Amino acid sequence: MMPDQAPEDSLFTRIGGKAAVDAVVDLLYNRLLRDVEVGRFFTDMDERAQRRKMKVFLAYAFGALPNYSGASLREAHRPLVEEKGLTDIHFDVVAEHLQSILLELHVPESLVEEVMAIVGSTRNEVLNR
Ligand code: HEM
Repeated sequence: MMPDQAPEDSLFTRIGGKAAVDAVVDLLYNRLLRDVEVGRFFTDMDERAQRRKMKVFLAYAFGALPNYSGASLREAHRPLVEEKGLTDIHFDVVAEHLQSILLELHVPESLVEEVMAIVGSTRNEVLNR
């Protein structure tokens, strides 16, 4: 998951390392749970699972998982697509929360764009198509 010693040129390091990532985890977690459109997707999980999900999510977003497996993202979200109606609308809401948080934390726009490109590249796997 999150590397203890990420390479200096990694997006993880350039974005501010563990301190920045922890701040993003807290903010994103709170916002998703309170969000009218996506909050319901997260209520079935226990808190530990929710935190783990956020960490792994951000590991993807910050490019800290080089051996990224689209198959596992597909599996993890399949029940959400099939049983709870997960669509592009929800994907966009999650991506937008992440983007606002990064901008609020004054992450430079070029880095925010890198993060959003990585997140966007997972769309088809997450939505199982
Ligand atoms: C935007 C791109 C997304 C990425 C990169 C992502 C990433 C992940 C990852 C890595 C897991 C892993 C869990 C595991 O190992 O068990 C996961 C689970 C989960 N994701 Fe996402 N996710 C994305 C979008 C979404 C969206 C749009 C929703 C709902 C609105 C969502 C809701 C969930 C839930 C509820 C789980 C837990 C499933 C379970 O174990 O019960 N994710 N996600």
